[in-house]
Amino acid sequence: MSRFNSNKYSPFVSVDRPNRAWPNKVITEAPAWCSVDLRDGNQALIDPMTPAQKLEMFEMLVEVGFKQIEIGFPAASQPDFDFVRKLIEEDRVPSDVTIQVLTQARKELIERSFESLKGAKSAIMHVYNSTSTVQREQVFKLSKDEIKRIATDGATWVKACAEQQPETTWQFQYSPESFTGTEMDYAVEVCNAVLDVWLPTPENKAILNLPATVEVATPNVYADQIEWFCENVNQRDSVIISLHTHNDRGCGVAASELGVLAGADRVEGTLLGNGERTGNMDIVTMAMNLYSQGVDPTLDFSRMDKIIHVVEKCTALKVHPRHPYAGELVFAAFSGSHQDAINKCLALYQEGELWEVAYLPIDPRDLGRNYQEVIRINSQSGKGGVAYVLEQEHSIKMPRWLQVDFSPVVQAEAEKTEAEVNAQQIHDLFFSTYFPSDNQFQLKGYQVSRDDGVDSMQATLSDSGKDHAIRGEGRGVLEAFVEALGSHTGHPLVIIDYNEHTLGSNETAEAIAYVQISVMQQRVCGVGKSHDILGATLNAVLNAYARSSAASQAKVA
Ligand code: KIV
Ligand code: ZN
Repeated sequence: MSRFNSNKYSPFVSVDRPNRAWPNKVITEAPAWCSVDLRDGNQALIDPMTPAQKLEMFEMLVEVGFKQIEIGFPAASQPDFDFVRKLIEEDRVPSDVTIQVLTQARKELIERSFESLKGAKSAIMHVYNSTSTVQREQVFKLSKDEIKRIATDGATWVKACAEQQPETTWQFQYSPESFTGTEMDYAVEVCNAVLDVWLPTPENKAILNLPATVEVATPNVYADQIEWFCENVNQRDSVIISLHTHNDRGCGVAASELGVLAGADRVEGTLLGNGERTGNMDIVTMAMNLYSQGVDPTLDFSRMDKIIHVVEKCTALKVHPRHPYAGELVFAAFSGSHQDAINKCLALYQEGELWEVAYLPIDPRDLGRNYQEVIRINSQSGKGGVAYVLEQEHSIKMPRWLQVDFSPVVQAEAEKTEAEVNAQQIHDLFFSTYFPSDNQFQLKGYQVSRDDGVDSMQATLSDSGKDHAIRGEGRGVLEAFVEALGSHTGHPLVIIDYNEHTLGSNETAEAIAYVQISVMQQRVCGVGKSHDILGATLNAVLNAYARSSAASQAKVA
């Protein structure tokens, strides 16, 4: 029995919209993005960003391609005020970027905010007051009319102050804070009253930003609210509808996505979702979601590691390893079946084709990652993954039968260490397994001749430090060698399979060979290297023999 008392909470009352249109729509272009990392994100930090960190973050946001950046709350914080001044006085705002500042709808704060922006080429003055039932009744204890008055007074002061600073191109933004907890007809009433003050035009639009200040309902409810708002607000063609969602229920991105379907034009959020409580809407995730559907996100996240570095440095918050698109593990596959599927798809994928790779929703290279990071080996991994790592990192192309032989070795190591096995460890295990250090044999030289389709081999074999001349004949040099070795040891052996390649592309590249032999009814694999293919294959036979029970019996004897 649950010890929770479900009667403590009530279901969210949604807008009645039987004819909602947004579920049938698709997003075909990116919304206008506004980063609020330097304001909402910064306000949520244990230690707000230093001026140097703010500047680094600002420059990175510009580099990523943001055209609107909320840079602070200058009337509420002296460091924010100073930062706004620094950007303007040092002429650090590119001409195609508009800075935005937030202010409460109070005269002295609005005036101070305008003062911070003196000399800016263009700016968005963002004014807000809270409109929800809870805030009106319990926090402010004011009537609906009184709350509306706060908004229209704020709008009036904003307009008057802007007229005093005509050197700046102004855009005005109003947020009915806690919009989602506000009666929709009242939210529209307040916003319309603000528009009546600002009198926006299609050429000079006002921004109405509709925050899910605290996320309290499923994203479809937000979408219904946005669609209803878009249909009922005045002067829709003179208004930019902006979304500002938070992530309290873990659906901040979904809510903004559905809000865009419902008619919104603009989205506010932060990189990787820093922000109050569970954070703001994560712009990286939403933009990459669009990209994965073939929509140009208009933001550039191809240097994801740099973005993570700057965000972690400025926020002192670590990015979760499973964070969508950005986390260290999001493109990693440990499970054998996933690795095999990825390998097969990547082998078929041709540059320039539509991306269709199992388990990888997007190409990791788009974010500056590489395929090597995809296949990671632990006790859950299979032969395909191990083979992939050896090939990618060490150019070792194991045939399938060798993969089957080697994979349990890696798995045993992963189980023993209870940890991931990295590429270097796999390489070392491969060599310690297939190049036995106690091999009693060493091939010192050989001669081959062919007569009437029969190959003969004479070789000098060092056996436990003593040289022996060995001889054999066969259809092919390998068969001749195997016969010679079998006669020498007294244990006939046959080649089941073999395979070889060079370990590079130039003529001095070493060769590597893989063989599977049968000796004393046991199948054993071996690997050999040499400067030529034949030498590598003969060494592989000797290494295979050295791993067999025939060799261990000889040592005991
Ligand atoms: O979450 C919120 O409501 C805000 C507003 C000030 C826009 O951050
Ligand atoms: Zn917010």
